[in-house]
Amino acid sequence: MDEHDMLLSPAGVEALRTALSRAAYTSNGIADRLGPQATGGIARNDFRAALRATADRDPLATLIRVFICDQTEPEAAVAAALAPLTVAEALAGGLVERHGDGLRAGVDLEPYADDWWVLADLPVSSRPGRPLHAEHVLGIGGATQTLIGAAVRRPVETALDLGTGSGVQALHLATHARRVTATDVSERALRFAATTAALNGQDWELLRGDLVAPVAGRRFDLVVSNPPFVVGPGTTTHVYRDSGRVGDAIGAELAAAAPGLLTEGGTMQYLANWVHVTGEDWGERVAGWFAGTGLDAWVIQREVADPMAYVNLWLTDVGEATDPHRAAAWLDWFDAHKVEAVGFGIVSLHRGGHADPVVRVEDLRQRVEPPMGERIAAWFDRQDWLRARGADGLLDARYRAAEGLQLRQEATMGDEGWAVDRQVLAMPHGLRWTEEIDPLVLALVGGADGRLPLRDQLALLAAAHDVAPEELAEAAGPIVAHLVERGIVEPVSD
Ligand SMILES: C[S@@+](CC[C@H](N)C(=O)[O-])C[C@H]1O[C@@H](n2cnc3c(N)ncnc32)[C@H](O)[C@@H]1O
Repeated sequence: MDEHDMLLSPAGVEALRTALSRAAYTSNGIADRLGPQATGGIARNDFRAALRATADRDPLATLIRVFICDQTEPEAAVAAALAPLTVAEALAGGLVERHGDGLRAGVDLEPYADDWWVLADLPVSSRPGRPLHAEHVLGIGGATQTLIGAAVRRPVETALDLGTGSGVQALHLATHARRVTATDVSERALRFAATTAALNGQDWELLRGDLVAPVAGRRFDLVVSNPPFVVGPGTTTHVYRDSGRVGDAIGAELAAAAPGLLTEGGTMQYLANWVHVTGEDWGERVAGWFAGTGLDAWVIQREVADPMAYVNLWLTDVGEATDPHRAAAWLDWFDAHKVEAVGFGIVSLHRGGHADPVVRVEDLRQRVEPPMGERIAAWFDRQDWLRARGADGLLDARYRAAEGLQLRQEATMGDEGWAVDRQVLAMPHGLRWTEEIDPLVLALVGGADGRLPLRDQLALLAAAHDVAPEELAEAAGPIVAHLVERGIVEPVSD
């Protein structure tokens, strides 16, 4: 670990780790202690059952009451729960704070995954009326989890987390990267990240600076970032949310930096917002970020918000929802720039060293089956396969329909019986794509049982439908490539 300040001294972190481990203050330890009903209540912010189950105030009970149920507890009980860390050290580090005649949480000390702890600031909802620190350190929320789920978890030598905050992404990286580097522009965030690392017995290189500046000239096998992606006029009040860049420029800036950050074969993944401008195709706008990077790019739009909902969401996030001037200024900026909606999604980039990189920007709003990260890695693998095969090789391959592939049909009853209006292929697993198809493609997919090369399958279909085989092959090539890209049909290896 670099010599970065922590919230506690190194001995203090060790003492805290001893206290938390001894009390079994871990996700599993807490679930075992509370049982399913109280654990389920906590997930919904209903602490009643948890408080009943922790009335005896042994160390685990006190830790649950203070750090999960946000109670003020007697100093003696907190001292016993944190020992060998002293209350004086915990107060000095901001872990707890005095409240009334007891102590309560000063930070979010979250048991996470099987046996990790993540340190972050308390959310705005925990201390209503108290303004968020300008360098607020974000806890584990929805966006954080989206990136955790989307990250490709294949073993790598080096990994980088840009804008590490609490350090939660870096914790995950350390499970499959030999060396982890994490950066942040905020010294305060780095203090939290350094403490999270030490508390979990992990060792990362921590660097301070603006975006990629601290790692200039260095390359990594995997880069992840949950940056301050929020779109607006470029005003910065909270560093976890505002990049200081105007509009969606941070997404473009990260794209431009990617080629210089990645080793050959490396992957970069980040979360981003992008604006939908009236009269402009949002997909083309985002695709433009990757022009000239030489990288394969897959951008999936997971959500779209209208400006009003978007501004309200982000003002509420920092407890400013009641400030009509802030909201009005932000919405005015959207109006002036003809922003009619804001998209949110995951950008995944792969440096494959190809002269003809694939850039795909698309909606993927359906619920997907986890793990998303492996599905993203498989998407790039399929692009490599398609590229290596070429149009001719595609025809020589044999295919099988995806496991459990369904056909959904809509038809209307007429004088002659049912008339089919629409036929849709639906993947019940994985990315759960649905794809409207015509009868010829249906026949092709229906016959994809892994036995005949596509070329022969097409010849049979051409004969049955009385069309020229070459014409059919030419038309079918891009369609099959698309079905392969989406995993609706899978090549069968020889
Ligand atoms: C949305 S938070 C993400 C925190 C954490 N990685 C996660 O996934 O929950 C963004 C982080 O980026 C940091 N940050 C903001 N602007 C930055 C910049 N220009 N360069 C580097 N880090 C920045 C913030 O301090 C904050 O910790």
